[in-house]
Amino acid sequence: MAPVDLSASIYAQYKRARKRAAEAERRGVASEAAAAYRQAAGFMRQYAGSARDASVRQQRNQRADALEALAQRLQNLPADAALVGGRDRVQPAEATGEDDYESQVLGLIQSTDVKWDDIGGLDDTKQAIKAAYGLALARKPAGIEISSWRNFLLFGPPGTGKTLLAAATAGNLDATFFNVKVSDLLSKYFGESTKLISALYTVAKRLSPAVIFMDEFESLTPPRGSSESGAERRIVSTLLAELDGLKGKGSDDLIITIGATNVPWLIDSAMLSRFQKRIYVPLPDEVARQAILEMFILKRGHKTQVSIPELVRRTAGYAGREIEQICQTAITHMTQRANPGLMAVVDRGQDALRDYEIRVEPLSPKDFDIAFESVQPMTDPADERRYADWLKQIES
Ligand SMILES: Nc1ncnc2c1ncn2[C@@H]1O[C@H](COP(=O)(O)OP(=O)(O)OP(=O)(O)O)[C@@H](O)[C@H]1O
Ligand SMILES: [Mg+2]
Repeated sequence: MAPVDLSASIYAQYKRARKRAAEAERRGVASEAAAAYRQAAGFMRQYAGSARDASVRQQRNQRADALEALAQRLQNLPADAALVGGRDRVQPAEATGEDDYESQVLGLIQSTDVKWDDIGGLDDTKQAIKAAYGLALARKPAGIEISSWRNFLLFGPPGTGKTLLAAATAGNLDATFFNVKVSDLLSKYFGESTKLISALYTVAKRLSPAVIFMDEFESLTPPRGSSESGAERRIVSTLLAELDGLKGKGSDDLIITIGATNVPWLIDSAMLSRFQKRIYVPLPDEVARQAILEMFILKRGHKTQVSIPELVRRTAGYAGREIEQICQTAITHMTQRANPGLMAVVDRGQDALRDYEIRVEPLSPKDFDIAFESVQPMTDPADERRYADWLKQIES
């Protein structure tokens, strides 16, 4: 009889422990997070033992080591409260050894539970991302090389879902999500940014699969000819090398780097050439606007006297974030209208408030008129054309 293969169940236990750890970290309870990471490390070691291939075994053991190191660091934090505040917790000034850079990088990890379904519309964009990482992840037939893109650039107007897409990519892959704001990298860690970038990719490899999200990507690469300091050049060349994957050639680690920007034309050509996959995230079309409106009105349990198709027409030219603001403003106005006595209840104190149930009514034309007056679209049609023109120009 063949031995029973337990590896799937061990891996499931590993994932559950990781999830518990992430939740504890989010709640700011370092000791609990440390314990859960230690458990996860234990399961990862068992899982390593079940691998027949020596290199896979080694890779999994390294992952277990990294998890144990993380548990150790969390345990050494002065108090549970130290976790609160997340990424600001570790001060760059204290960094000296490589270990310190790595612990700063750990502060960039964010847990994400964004799913593809939480993003309205953008079907082509979602397909493009899925196709790209599908190729990168799937097993290739022996002797066949298929090059796959691991660096994506998401560009488009503000508030169109770029950050959401990156988070969904990580969430869907169960990948470690590093959320890096490039302007922080340059200012907060200035002078140490190259070391931080190297540490970022080292840690990402250990915790692979990983998604490294670099927001405001254009701030990394001032256009040629502008006054660029030596330090900035070094940062750029370090990142270029990491994006090329020079150090990781031949390894199975999956690290996806996603850059995001509102102003792609500021990115210099050397950097741009590393992002073979450039994905335009446009303002939502009718189908997307309908999905977003339904998400923020109907799925939240509200009724509306203004029909969804009418709202779809009126939100032409609005980004997803602006549509969300319109809905929120209309809902707030409705609750104020439907609860004229609420302020008096507030004055009577907490107990009175707990006994009071908010009254809701269907959203009225007036609620929406007020919302449309207060939220204006940020992107004008000329800007929108500029993205399309830029893409045409660089792909020609
Ligand atoms: N397609 C969408 N579906 C659902 N919600 C959306 C969509 N687009 C935007 N939103 C809402 O707008 C918010 C902002 O989106 P997001 O942060 O992804 O925009 P962004 O493209 O990263 O913007 P920026 O360029 O300003 O960083 C989201 O948190 C979400 O609530
Ligand atoms: Mg964003």
